[in-house]
Amino acid sequence: MQLPFMTWAESEAQIRKDPLVIVPIGSTEQHGPNGLIGTDALNAEAVAIAVGKATEAMVGPVVAIGMAQHHLAFSGSITLRPSTMIAFISDYVFSLARHGVRKFFFINGHGGNIAPLSAAFSEIYATASLDPSGQVPRVRCVQHNWYDQKSVRAYAAQAFGDRDGSHATAAEVSLTQHLFPDSIRRVNMPPVAKAHRRFTDAIDLRSLHPDGRIGSEPSLATPAHGKALFEAALADLSPALRAFRDEP
Ligand code: NI
Repeated sequence: MQLPFMTWAESEAQIRKDPLVIVPIGSTEQHGPNGLIGTDALNAEAVAIAVGKATEAMVGPVVAIGMAQHHLAFSGSITLRPSTMIAFISDYVFSLARHGVRKFFFINGHGGNIAPLSAAFSEIYATASLDPSGQVPRVRCVQHNWYDQKSVRAYAAQAFGDRDGSHATAAEVSLTQHLFPDSIRRVNMPPVAKAHRRFTDAIDLRSLHPDGRIGSEPSLATPAHGKALFEAALADLSPALRAFRDEP
């Protein structure tokens, strides 16, 4: 059940029954020669909706713009500053906390979100800790990267080896190809060059990785791999959500 498709009365009843929400969070950024700019948000949202269905949990609106400053030298990429993202996530969480939600299960599709999302959780907890009246709702937030799940990693390693890479990966491109077969791109690309150091800002990333791939061969992507990866993510995240829901 997805919050944008519910009425306020349905939201009220659902939160009373289960004060938990899944929050899909991704990014809008270049994904190499054949990857869609929406890859991270589209994947996170689809996985979140499936986990929500499997566990009868409510799914909040996708956070489709993340912390992607390092991709801004490529057309179409959009970023939040880390500080903006921390404020945004805090407002998202406290809005739903006002309605009674106490547990937030973030399903993340973008590595650049990990640090600011963790910082947002600290900001949220600090707001409660620093409130002497004890009126601030006390919530619990966790983040799970769909691509980091044990079964997903195992499948990607077996299917792509070290050619999966770390950005515009064969795995994430496969997942969008499975979800959106009408948007598959066939692009010839040379073998990817090895990075000799970690990038810093947007211009630096583009100079190190001129076509946007970071160590990946997304030409290996197929919808069939995407289907298997989707099922692997669902298999790991659904029990993780149930365990989080059951935590005292
Ligand atoms: Ni990505």
